[in-house]
Amino acid sequence: MPTRQCGHASPVDLLSHLPSVPAQHHFPGTRDKTFLDAACVGLAPTDTRLAIERFLDRALLCPDRDASTHHIALDQARVTAVREGARLLDAGDDEIALVESTTHGLNVIAAAIPFQPHENVVICDLEFLQVAIPWLKLAERGGIREVRVARNRRGAVPVEAFAQHVDADTRAVVVSSVQWTNGFAVDLHGLAEVCRAHGALLVVDAIQQLGATRLSVRDTPADIVVAGGHYDFPTTAKSLEINGTANYPGAVGLGASLELVNKLGITTIEAHVHELTDRLHDELPRLGVRVVTRPEPEARSGITTFEVSDAAAENEAFLQALLDERIYVAMRYTSGVGGIRVSTHLYNDHDDVDRLIQVMRSLLGRGALQGVGAPRGSGVLPDELRPQA
Ligand SMILES: Cc1ncc(COP(=O)(O)O)c(C=O)c1O
Repeated sequence: MPTRQCGHASPVDLLSHLPSVPAQHHFPGTRDKTFLDAACVGLAPTDTRLAIERFLDRALLCPDRDASTHHIALDQARVTAVREGARLLDAGDDEIALVESTTHGLNVIAAAIPFQPHENVVICDLEFLQVAIPWLKLAERGGIREVRVARNRRGAVPVEAFAQHVDADTRAVVVSSVQWTNGFAVDLHGLAEVCRAHGALLVVDAIQQLGATRLSVRDTPADIVVAGGHYDFPTTAKSLEINGTANYPGAVGLGASLELVNKLGITTIEAHVHELTDRLHDELPRLGVRVVTRPEPEARSGITTFEVSDAAAENEAFLQALLDERIYVAMRYTSGVGGIRVSTHLYNDHDDVDRLIQVMRSLLGRGALQGVGAPRGSGVLPDELRPQA
C-alpha cells in the first residue's frame, strides 16, 4: 500500500481549499493504490457519490405534492452540470448541451453539420478510434468526399501537418486537444487560424484535457468542444441535447464533479498537473527509459508516456509488474506511437510520482539498469520481467 508523506505541494494542499471534509476523504479511491490513470477513467469524488445518492433518494421517495412538481425538480437537477460546465469552459449556459459520452457527442455533431458531398474532414493519425469513426462513416455514405489524415512527426502533430491537408473544401478539422496515447497538446490557436483562413470548423475533443488543464472557448476560437458529459456549440447547443426524461444521475454526478473542479479553480489544477508532468519528464530519463511524450513544455499535458523496450511484450510485462505493485497506469498505442501511459489529475501528488519512480527503479535495478539517456533495448529489463517465448 502506498505511503503518503508530507513534502511538496500535494493534493492534500490542493484539496484543503475545500470546506468541511478532510482532504483525504474527497477521493477514497487513492487510499489503497497509486492511481495514475486518469486518462482511462478518472476517480469520482465523494461529493459526486453524495449528490447522486441524494438525487436517487428523491427519485425513490417523490417528496413533492404531485408528480409534475417532482418531474420538474428532476429536470432541475441537471442544471448544475450545465452551469458548472459553462463556468469551466468560459461559455454561456446556453452554449452547453449535455451528452452521454464523448463518442455520442462526436456522432451528434457529425449528424448536425450540413456537410456537402464534395467536402472533406481533416483528422490526425494519433486519434482515438471513436474520434475518427463518425467522419469515416460519413465518407462511406457519400456525405463527404473524404477524410484526410495528418501524419504525426515523432509523436508531434504540428499545425503545418494539418494545414497541408486543409483547403477550400475542408468543412471541419477534428482534433483531440490532448492526444490520448502520448499526451501531445495540440496548438489549438494555430489550428483555429488555419481553419478561419479556409472557412473550416474547428471541432475539438477535449476529453483528455477538460478538468485537468484550462480550455476557455473565449480564448480558443474552437467552434465546437466535445467531452464526455457535455459539449459546447455556440448558439444552437440546446437543440442538440437529448431532451425528455434523460440520464439524470449522470448529469447530477457530472455537475457535482465539475463543481469540485471549479471550486479548486482550473488554473490552480493546471499548475499542479503540469508540476507533476514536469517531474515525470525530469525523472523518467534518469531511469534509462525512453520518454515517448514530446519534451517541449508547450506540448505537455497531464499525460506522460514511456517505453522500457522496443518490444511491446516487454513493455506489457513491465506494465503488469507496476500493476502488481498497485500502481495504476495503462499501455496505449496508435499508429505505433505510445507505450506505458502515466496520467495525473487533481487527486495526485508528488508522493504518487515518487512511488512510481521508486518502484520503477527497483524493478529495473533487478536487471542491468542502463545509465541516463541510455537507449531502449533488451538490457533494461531484468530477466524475471522478460516475457517467456
Ligand atoms: C480522445 C478521446 N476521445 C474519445 C474517447 C471516448 O470517450 P467516451 O468514452 O466518453 O465516448 C476517449 C477515451 O479514451 C479519448 O481518449
